[in-house]
Amino acid sequence: MTVHLLREISCKTSCRSRRCHRKADSLTNRAHGKDTRLRYPRRQSSLPPRIVDMRAALLILLGLVIGILGTVPVMNTLSERNPMPKAVMTTMGYHMHQLKGALKSQRCEAAVSLDQLQHMQVIASDIPAAFPGAPQPFVDDANHLRSALKAAVLAAPADCPALATVLEPVGKACQTCHQQYR
Ligand code: HEC
Repeated sequence: MTVHLLREISCKTSCRSRRCHRKADSLTNRAHGKDTRLRYPRRQSSLPPRIVDMRAALLILLGLVIGILGTVPVMNTLSERNPMPKAVMTTMGYHMHQLKGALKSQRCEAAVSLDQLQHMQVIASDIPAAFPGAPQPFVDDANHLRSALKAAVLAAPADCPALATVLEPVGKACQTCHQQYR
C-alpha cells in the first residue's frame, strides 16, 4: 500500500503524460481495492466518431489504391500470354525497316535485299498461326502479303530501283491489313 502511494506520488510529480497519470490512478484504485477496468475503456473507442470515420475512409482509399496498382501487372500478364502477334509483327517491321534504310541510303546490295525478303516471306507464313481465330478477310490479307513477298524474292532485286518496285506491293499489303485490324 505504501509502495503504491509512493509510486503514485513520484509518477505524478515526474511525468505529465496522460498514460502515466492513468497508470498512477489505477495503482491508487487498485490499492483501494477498486476495479479499474471499466473506468478506462480501450483507447480506440474513446476517439471521437469523426476520427474513426476518417480512419475507415482512409483504409478504403488505401484498399482502392492497392487494387488499382495490382491490376496493371495482371493486365500486362494477360496480354503477354500470347506474345506471338507482336513478336511476328515486330520482326516483320525490323526487316522492312532495314530494306527502307537501304533504299534511303541508296545502298541496295542484291544479296542483302534477297536475304531480308526471304526472312519476311518465312515470317509472313507465320501470320495466320500467330493470330488464331482471325476472320477470313484477315487471312486473305496475310495471303496477299505472302504472294507479294514471293514475287519479290523471285524478282531478286539487284539494285535500288528494282528493290523499290518489289517493295511497293509488299508495303501495300502491310497497310491494307493494318488499316482494318491494327
Ligand atoms: C494480315 C494482317 C497483317 C499484315 C499483312 C501485316 N500486319 Fe503488321 N500488324 C497486324 C496487327 C493485327 C497488328 C497489331 C498486333 C498487336 O498489337 O498485337 C500489327 C502490328 C504491326 C507492328 C507493330 C508491332 C508492335 O510492336 O505492336 C508492326 C511494326 C507491323 N505490324 C509491321 C508489319 C509489316 C512491316 C508488314 C508487312 C511487311 C505487316 N505488319 C503486315 C496485322 C498485319
